[in-house]
Amino acid sequence: MCGIVGYVGNRPALSIVIDGLRRLEYRGYDSAGVAIIDNGLVKTEKKAGKLANLEKALAERGDDGIGAGATGIGHTRWATHGGPTDRNAHPHLSDDGRVAVIHNGIIENFARLRTELEATGVEFRSDTDTECAAHLLAAEMRALREAGAEDGPALLAEGMRRVANRLEGAFTLLAVDVEVPGAVVAARRNSPLVVGRGNGENFLASDVSAFIEHTREAIELGQDQVVLITPAGIEITGFDGAPATGKEFHVDWDLSAAEKGGYEYFMLKEIAEQPQAIADTLLGRLSERGEIILDEVRLTDQDLRDVDKVFIVACGTSYHAGMVAKYAIEHWVRIPCEVELASEFRYRDPILDRSTLVIVISQSGETMDTLMALRHAKEQKARVLAICNSNGSTIPRESDAVLYTHGGPEIAVASTKAFLTQLVACYLIGLHLAQIRGVMYADEVAAVVEKLRATPDSLRSLLGRMEDVRALGRDLRTASTVLFIGRHVGFPVALEGALKLKELAYMHAEGFAAGELKHGPISLIDEGTPVVCVVPSPAGRGVMRDKVVSNIQEVRARGARTIVIAEEGDEDVRQFADHLITVPQTPTLLAPLMTTVPLQVLACEIAAARGHDVDQPRNLAKSVTVE
Ligand code: F6R
Repeated sequence: MCGIVGYVGNRPALSIVIDGLRRLEYRGYDSAGVAIIDNGLVKTEKKAGKLANLEKALAERGDDGIGAGATGIGHTRWATHGGPTDRNAHPHLSDDGRVAVIHNGIIENFARLRTELEATGVEFRSDTDTECAAHLLAAEMRALREAGAEDGPALLAEGMRRVANRLEGAFTLLAVDVEVPGAVVAARRNSPLVVGRGNGENFLASDVSAFIEHTREAIELGQDQVVLITPAGIEITGFDGAPATGKEFHVDWDLSAAEKGGYEYFMLKEIAEQPQAIADTLLGRLSERGEIILDEVRLTDQDLRDVDKVFIVACGTSYHAGMVAKYAIEHWVRIPCEVELASEFRYRDPILDRSTLVIVISQSGETMDTLMALRHAKEQKARVLAICNSNGSTIPRESDAVLYTHGGPEIAVASTKAFLTQLVACYLIGLHLAQIRGVMYADEVAAVVEKLRATPDSLRSLLGRMEDVRALGRDLRTASTVLFIGRHVGFPVALEGALKLKELAYMHAEGFAAGELKHGPISLIDEGTPVVCVVPSPAGRGVMRDKVVSNIQEVRARGARTIVIAEEGDEDVRQFADHLITVPQTPTLLAPLMTTVPLQVLACEIAAARGHDVDQPRNLAKSVTVE
């Protein structure tokens, strides 16, 4: 989820690239860097941390330091491979110093490529997957020259096509070559890239906000395409070299809308990004032998085999992800799993020892309650595994192992894509534990992973039909209370739906286990009280689904207005629903990846209809660093 900018034209590239990066900083701020081609040299500057650090370093260098060259690339990083340090910041240079490369995405086969390159004597200067691409590009161009090709933009484009054909995973790559001034080349697979068409100058960027100050004419690239920009033109080909075209469009958003990708709020944008965030979190997690690969695991397989109990500790939305994980872990791994609010964990003196695995979940990696729980677990000698979205933050640093979610920065205070990617991470950990403990066979794990891999497409189709949910949201803006009910994994989804509504719309909202309602809370139901009911799939767990349907009838009989979230094809449920929202069919344990999403949209819409600041609700902060 990094931000990428490229410029070629007739003006000094540096300020254009830096301004573009400023607009893309929402995509990542672990480091920033630029490369400018100037007077026969490729000049780079890169710094860990926010763009301001890079700007300070550039200011100290003075303009002459980096030059006034009219060809440049810039990058703002969301760390995946390698910590957020100066040395891992992009651009990365090839071993011969000719080529500078920046990258967004994950090169899944980088370990194999790195070994291959090291065998030819290449020395790596970073821990990134990106650096492979720089060395490979230089090597491919060298080979082409040795075969008689002449230096020039066409050679740079052919080199990039050859590199792209060798990479697996998702990537946008941009490169410049010191011997080919006046050209920037890019390749795209499963990662965003747009071209800005200027007058005597052209642009490349992760999104249009980076260049709409300069041009509003843009081209969206297709899958598996390479684009070469020079001051005079834009040339697009497929990875096979065949001429191709992109989709031309005119941007009529203003700058602030452009930063939000045309959405009214970051939250809506982040909701829409969820299919990609899930796909990115799954990317690179399976080995060639079908085994699940976790990152930064400082625990041996034997340590994980010795685990006899799992605690999941987190706060807020992350806690709800943990609640879902409990069902998956107990079902797949067959060991006890408890979920605990981080703020309560250490005060009740939980029984922990070397054979306890504590999984801490945190989007920010800085939540003080979770950090204190982690420290307490470590003092008791438990093993700690973090699920985190912020590379290099405190919680992963202090844990024994980390699985990073690749959700990209979440700007809206209310968590959306972080939650879904946390679920994916929890599923992966559950499957990993089941596999190494021999409770599930590799083909059983692969079958679940296949289902997980299908969820981004299902989610895209679901997101494409949210209009009714939005209309319902506007209709519910005057409700005084909204209740949410669910069973099994639908229960944490109900809690999450209620939390979203409370924090965004400042309304009374409560989530309940559907079966618990009759033990008291059903008295809350009055004529017209909206009750959101999360119905399990009828496939496989028909009994559970039927019980929820009975609970829906109970609230209906007391006057509730039922908003039913059910699986496509569950026609019987229609008769109990005042509003029916259908979600794509998904295995029961994975269903929260679908059923949560309409609740996010609903909360966002109700909040907006009530005139609230959706992205920054009152009294809240994105990172809660006090206990
Ligand atoms: C709700 C929300 C919060 C966070 C909680 C934990 O939308 O965002 O409930 O989930 O504060 O934060 P992290 O995950 O950063 O530890």
